[in-house]
Amino acid sequence: MARDRASSPPLAEALRLAAAAWTEFRGGRSLDRALEFAARDAAHPRAAAAAKDIVYTAARHLALLDALIARLAAKPPAPPIAALLAMGLSQLIAARHPPFAVVDQAVSAARAEPAARGAAAFINACLRNYLRRAETLRADAERDDTVRFNAPRWWIDRLRTAYPDHWRTILQAQREAPPLVLRVNARRVSVAAYLERLRRESIDAEQVGAQAVWLRTPRPVHEIPGFSGGEVSVQDAGAQLAAPWLQAATGMRVLDACAAPGGKTAHLAELSDAAIDALEIDPARAARIGADLQRLGLAGERVRVIVGDACRPAEWHRGGPYDRILLDAPCTASGIVRRHPDIPWLRRGSDVAQLATIQSRMLDALWPLLAPAGRLLFVVCSLFPEEGAQQAARMLQRWADAVPVALPGRDAATLQLLPAPVTTAARLAPDAAPTVHDGFFYALFEKR
Ligand SMILES: C[S@@+](CC[C@H](N)C(=O)[O-])C[C@H]1O[C@@H](n2cnc3c(N)ncnc32)[C@H](O)[C@@H]1O
Repeated sequence: MARDRASSPPLAEALRLAAAAWTEFRGGRSLDRALEFAARDAAHPRAAAAAKDIVYTAARHLALLDALIARLAAKPPAPPIAALLAMGLSQLIAARHPPFAVVDQAVSAARAEPAARGAAAFINACLRNYLRRAETLRADAERDDTVRFNAPRWWIDRLRTAYPDHWRTILQAQREAPPLVLRVNARRVSVAAYLERLRRESIDAEQVGAQAVWLRTPRPVHEIPGFSGGEVSVQDAGAQLAAPWLQAATGMRVLDACAAPGGKTAHLAELSDAAIDALEIDPARAARIGADLQRLGLAGERVRVIVGDACRPAEWHRGGPYDRILLDAPCTASGIVRRHPDIPWLRRGSDVAQLATIQSRMLDALWPLLAPAGRLLFVVCSLFPEEGAQQAARMLQRWADAVPVALPGRDAATLQLLPAPVTTAARLAPDAAPTVHDGFFYALFEKR
């Protein structure tokens, strides 16, 4: 009987694709790039989506998988075999399918993959061995911090030094599946009306920031009520602080200096009629800004998308100074690991200083574009102080006309938001900071 092409792919096909992506990822590509690469070979329309779920689950257990393979195999298996073994083990750990179905499908995947065909019996033996000794093997592996927290040693050490009281909670939060948080488009619908719509559709949701709504059960974007009509966007509640804190108003000129994919640009455009220049160095990413503004009904002349380098304003800056500048700078992304579990494994310790240098260069290039009494909001989705508090302090040392100003509604000019496990989320108090969010650093400067 012909297979229904729309039905779920066999687990074996998803495991095979996931293993191909895993091999690329362990070679240094990001998970998303690795998945794109592997998906070119997908035999089933939904196998790529299933493979994505498998590799993201595996990345949340990467250190454990490595430790288990080291205990199950007498010598390190070749990368394609280790990858298939890792995908099988991670599915056993995730316990979404009956264990022997996972073993059976992993063996089928090995037989279908030329680079792993000869190792089908070995994979079968390792997975069965794991099932027999799972508890002991895991307990033994988890004595190591890198396994318990699923992060490289240098990453854990830096967080422990920076946050002696919170590093465990941060690392615990990094292992979670990310919460799905929406930003309600203030031009289209109120948060109260949107929550009422969700309630009528029996969707469990909670307000977790001024415009932020958390859907307790994640769902694909096309199944989010009002998404295609531009009533809501997907954006973490911590990221939703940027636009209101910039306090842009009609008549102002605003620069969003590192704008793609455009989440904060769109929020700025939702909140005011200011003229916005959205700058982005990567042309393909810049194209996404316009597409999103279109969906939200915000496309028009007052938002200009510019492809250019924030460090070289002479190449793209036209007209007078800006009243507001948002610099959402490239960073280690150490605050958003639960959304991108590959990050700790792709970065090296030396990246922190390198990225901090790029951020300083951007601040120095953009500061002269700000009008007197104008404000610059610096944002990174990082937890490392070199990119946060230390970066802000160095900015004040370099620029005598930069003054720290209190973030709206707060009593300090900087804020380090730490990601908290969603299980600890409290109900939102009126005017409170968001309660479910990723890790961000904010600093607000005014020009004397
Ligand atoms: C943290 S992301 C920005 C996220 C965006 N603000 C949002 O809310 O959707 C940083 C962006 O800066 C861009 N970028 C990196 N270096 C840049 C540069 N020198 N000039 C302009 N953009 C740059 C990256 O391509 C990336 O899209």
